[in-house]
Amino acid sequence: MSSLKITIASKSPVFKKDTAYVVGVKEQSKKLQLTKSDSDTSSLAKHDLEQLGASAASESITKVAAPNGAVFALLGLGSEKFDANTLRNLGGAISRNLRAFTEVVVDLGALNKGNSLALIEGLHLGFYEYNGRKSKASIKPALLKKVTLVSDSKISNSELTQLQVLSEAVHVTRDLVNTPPNEMYPASMVKAVQTGTKGLGLKIQVWDEKALAKDGFGGILAVGMGSSRPPRLVKIEYKPKGAKKHLALVGKGITFDTGGLSLKPAESMVGMKYDMTGAATSYQAIVAIARLGLPVQVSAWLCLAENMPSSTAQRPDDVIKIRNGKSVEVLNTDAEGRLVLADGLSAAVETKPDLIIDIATLTGAATIALGNRYAGLMGAEKAIKTVETAAAKAGELVWHMPLPAELRSLLNSDVADIANVKIGNRAGGMLIGGHFLREFVPAEIDWAHLDIAGPADNSGAAYGYTPKGGTGVILRTLVAVAEGLSGNK
Ligand code: BES
Ligand code: ZN
Ligand code: ZN
Repeated sequence: MSSLKITIASKSPVFKKDTAYVVGVKEQSKKLQLTKSDSDTSSLAKHDLEQLGASAASESITKVAAPNGAVFALLGLGSEKFDANTLRNLGGAISRNLRAFTEVVVDLGALNKGNSLALIEGLHLGFYEYNGRKSKASIKPALLKKVTLVSDSKISNSELTQLQVLSEAVHVTRDLVNTPPNEMYPASMVKAVQTGTKGLGLKIQVWDEKALAKDGFGGILAVGMGSSRPPRLVKIEYKPKGAKKHLALVGKGITFDTGGLSLKPAESMVGMKYDMTGAATSYQAIVAIARLGLPVQVSAWLCLAENMPSSTAQRPDDVIKIRNGKSVEVLNTDAEGRLVLADGLSAAVETKPDLIIDIATLTGAATIALGNRYAGLMGAEKAIKTVETAAAKAGELVWHMPLPAELRSLLNSDVADIANVKIGNRAGGMLIGGHFLREFVPAEIDWAHLDIAGPADNSGAAYGYTPKGGTGVILRTLVAVAEGLSGNK
């Protein structure tokens, strides 16, 4: 939870101990210079910034003593455009790197209102740490409590609260996906949803394995039946008065993906606790939307199962039946995400929403194609535009991928309506995943598929506002979609 208290001040406060004063460093005519600020930087004037070790490289931070025991943090501003996303990332770099101070004053000169808000959002988003089950002795808690932003922008309390609500949802998503899979399984995820939605007026419906069988959710059941920890489907509904549009979110919630009988090799299995990111993101997106009170109806479908190999697991060659009546020949049990999503999409379709977005760590192929920062975006033209617009607003990276018609026949099956993979085919893996899902959404419903296998977790070093591990990516895009549908902004 972001416990950072952020205040806006028109003047830089007097220097004091345990406080870092962040001022900007730019390169001009091959020389490093401080950008204009309100703080008294005269003690730095006699120094050559290069000799101090400062750099204009984006997010670099160099600490130098300031008067009264305070510290200057010389922040490289980079050469990129000084736009909202640059500031979001700079904000993240500040709160990630200056945690050992009790207070930070950010004084980057004149910022317009949008840039100030982005900076504040980044400060919250970056102030995150997952300590998991580390013992107390090995945890170094952050001391940072307060950030003062020196700015003339008029920012209201409600704007500050909105940013806090969004960041909290991102933080909870990160916590959920970082939780080890021995603790995070379908039933424990349901518990987390039940406690995490208390008091928000959301309607929660849970299908256990019996109810799943009774209601024909053959995809979720088939994927979950190899595990001693049975699958679940959760529907979360937010239905404010006066809502005109209905957005449905469908999240892949594989709490651990071993591949099932089509077992993954040891190295590829590491990190498969993140395979429930789509569900966690959908869940926290609807929580944020409800807390913000957006006038749009939203339902979130969490398709939860643990994909395990065992004597009760589904086999390659099995034929299963999805909720909408379509049969699927399962040729690879590791392509399980599309099976649970087929059920979730079918159920969402029954409610006739205006837009369905599914969110899934669906294919390794997505990371081969797009790397670790972009989400692959596929689907109907209108939905693509909606998601692209929202992502641009949120400063998140999505890339529109095609669903080439000729790939569809690869999923033709001799014994069922469709197969879940084409054995031996490696070309266009992300797109084939998209093709499969499209079969479960009729053309008259606007639909987008987000393959977040790449950006869901960050196995490298932290950067900008993105920590190591679960990133919480796409949540803010989903909230921006809801905002767009509510005609709010
Ligand atoms: N959960 C994986 C996808 C994944 C891979 C996510 C790497 C994050 C990082 C998914 O269930 C899977 O195993 N997909 C298969 C599909 C294939 C069998 C068609 C894959 O990508 O290999
Ligand atoms: Zn898999
Ligand atoms: Zn998976």
